[in-house]
Amino acid sequence: MAEHVEIMLTEDEVDNRIREIGEQISKDYAGKTVHLICVLKGGSFFMTELAKRITVPVSLDFMSVSSYGGSTKSSGVVRIVKDLDEPLEGKDVLVVEDIVDSGRTLSYLLEMLRDRKPASVKLCTLLDKPERRVVDVNVDYTGFQIPDEFVVGYGLDYDQKYRNLPYIGVVKFD
Ligand code: IMP
Ligand code: MG
Repeated sequence: MAEHVEIMLTEDEVDNRIREIGEQISKDYAGKTVHLICVLKGGSFFMTELAKRITVPVSLDFMSVSSYGGSTKSSGVVRIVKDLDEPLEGKDVLVVEDIVDSGRTLSYLLEMLRDRKPASVKLCTLLDKPERRVVDVNVDYTGFQIPDEFVVGYGLDYDQKYRNLPYIGVVKFD
């Protein structure tokens, strides 16, 4: 089936918002080191841009999870495909995600990370689809709240395509 992508948030809008969130995080973590955890692959584009806008010391780690379910739905049962390299004990952890949809993946993941005894755990997401929430998740930093549409770009994919778009778009089927 042929498809095309319509722009929802331009590159400038996304970049400006990331700059604002970076400033806010820098204020909130003054005097601390923020330990950013990127959930691969989707969170990687946002995380690197965000890290560049944070002025307090930053350390980074990566993890990859897969949820059992279809490509556009998540079941909430999460399997760790790649675990973090570093322990979290005593660290001020900020999980960086591309999007919170049902909230199933994140609620599972956050609980698992809290078990590792970090000093604090917060969540930062570029996009949030509040209408789709099934499991309650506390989001500390949100780039944009968006309507219930399937979006791509800035790390988000449709069938592994479009992650590299520098803007957020909606997939339309022709
Ligand atoms: P949740 O557990 O339902 O919150 O699922 C979150 C994950 O589903 C995200 O990290 C994405 O990988 C994927 N996802 C949810 N909505 C979208 C979307 O609109 N476009 C691309 N991926 C999405
Ligand atoms: Mg994700």
